[in-house]
Amino acid sequence: MSISTHGQLDSVLARTDANQPAGIERLMDFLRIPSVSTDPAFAADVRRAGEWASNMLKECGFESRLVNTHGHPMVLAKHPGPKGVTAPRVLFYGHYDVQPADPIELWTSPPFEPVIVEGPMGKRVVARGAVDDKGQVMTFLEALRAWHACAGGPPCPVTVILEGEEESGSESFEPFLREYAAELESDVAIVSDTGMWDINTPAITTMLRGLVYVEAKLKGPSHDLHSGLYGGALANPINSLARMIASLHHDDGRIAIEGFYDQVKPLPEKIKKQWDKLDFDDAEFLGKAGVKKGFGEPGFNAMERTWCRPTCDCNGIKGGYQGEGAKTVIASEATAKISCRLVADMDPDDAFNKLSAHLRARVPAGYTLEMKTFGKNPPIRVKDESPYLVAAERGLAKVYGMNPVCIGTGGSIPAVGLLQRILGVESLLVGFGLDDDRVHSPNEKFELTCFRRGALSHAAILAELAGLRP
Ligand code: BES
Ligand code: MN
Ligand code: MN
Repeated sequence: MSISTHGQLDSVLARTDANQPAGIERLMDFLRIPSVSTDPAFAADVRRAGEWASNMLKECGFESRLVNTHGHPMVLAKHPGPKGVTAPRVLFYGHYDVQPADPIELWTSPPFEPVIVEGPMGKRVVARGAVDDKGQVMTFLEALRAWHACAGGPPCPVTVILEGEEESGSESFEPFLREYAAELESDVAIVSDTGMWDINTPAITTMLRGLVYVEAKLKGPSHDLHSGLYGGALANPINSLARMIASLHHDDGRIAIEGFYDQVKPLPEKIKKQWDKLDFDDAEFLGKAGVKKGFGEPGFNAMERTWCRPTCDCNGIKGGYQGEGAKTVIASEATAKISCRLVADMDPDDAFNKLSAHLRARVPAGYTLEMKTFGKNPPIRVKDESPYLVAAERGLAKVYGMNPVCIGTGGSIPAVGLLQRILGVESLLVGFGLDDDRVHSPNEKFELTCFRRGALSHAAILAELAGLRP
């Protein structure tokens, strides 16, 4: 880091802190916009959230606009950085859309009316999108705001992309990257959409799982039947589909799809060493989910099962009579949503083909299986050695007083793989969420401590990056 950047950083950090109360208000405003991307009824709100974020970036000295796509708009903002200085070009990625709020009755306060409540680790904000990903996007925007106020702008050239359809499959992201590739050229990407090790231990995520998501519809009789007249004489589509789903696993938890593990490689030694040091506690992790005993592939603990082993899960099931009371019926069809989390080096098309062959082989004679896919994302490993990574580590260390740990995550972020493949840009996954934040669930929250230190960290990481030659 150059002397001048270093000198500036202290005032930027002080400014970030002084801005906190107003920053929390800004976050609450953002959270009040119900930008649910998967439900067309919210399309206008999604756009409004994009406009809101774009205006924030303008306040931070950026040239910012919404770029229309076939889906929801992309926020694209740029700042040239300081004049006459060569520093790495930084691309920040986050998403301003959120998951649906359902089941709404389980929220203790309305999902789009954020509240600050006291928790065991201090104050927290509760609302849909608090941590995934509006709160995390705001950590970066608050850092940019402080740099703008203290130094007239960030110490590096910065491009910001905020996506409006991450939670619904990122369909427009690839065409967007291809079309705007020239404008997006960067040396390193920073993504804040993952978690920390714990509230005091920062983390950089180096592995993400991929995802293949399908809907399988089993069609049997031409119409619903009286279960007394026909029951016992033909295959019940719900029974059959349930059998098909059950057949995806052996009793001990291993996936039973033929060849499913063929491409799964053992964990690289270096990563294994990093993870071994972490002292992962299964009981504590499962306890946060309200579960006493884990279950899964034998020979692996919960950390490995979620970070580096594939899964196959039914995410929803539909068919037959769902109303009050009893109805004696054999439904003509049954549907299941099934998704597989993939790990390096699994290929999404291959996993899909194997899943699909497994299910098709179990369709009762004369019945049909319709398969629809909702996206296929490859697993991702990000470079775990680079000067940029070291800069991020130093920035985090400055704020937390300790070096970050390198972790994996069970989740997926399609954008990270696409930035790698299409722009050739590696991401630094620097996130501030916690395991108990209730991501995608009622009463999602973000600890204000994480919000504050997240903003400070981004301010410090920018200073460290500015000290590097691109
Ligand atoms: N931010 C999450 C992924 C995540 C959560 C990473 C927690 C690390 C810790 C992201 O918004 C997400 O939910 N992704 C989806 C991707 C899917 C819709 C393609 C996922 O993982 O299910
Ligand atoms: Mn997210
Ligand atoms: Mn999410």
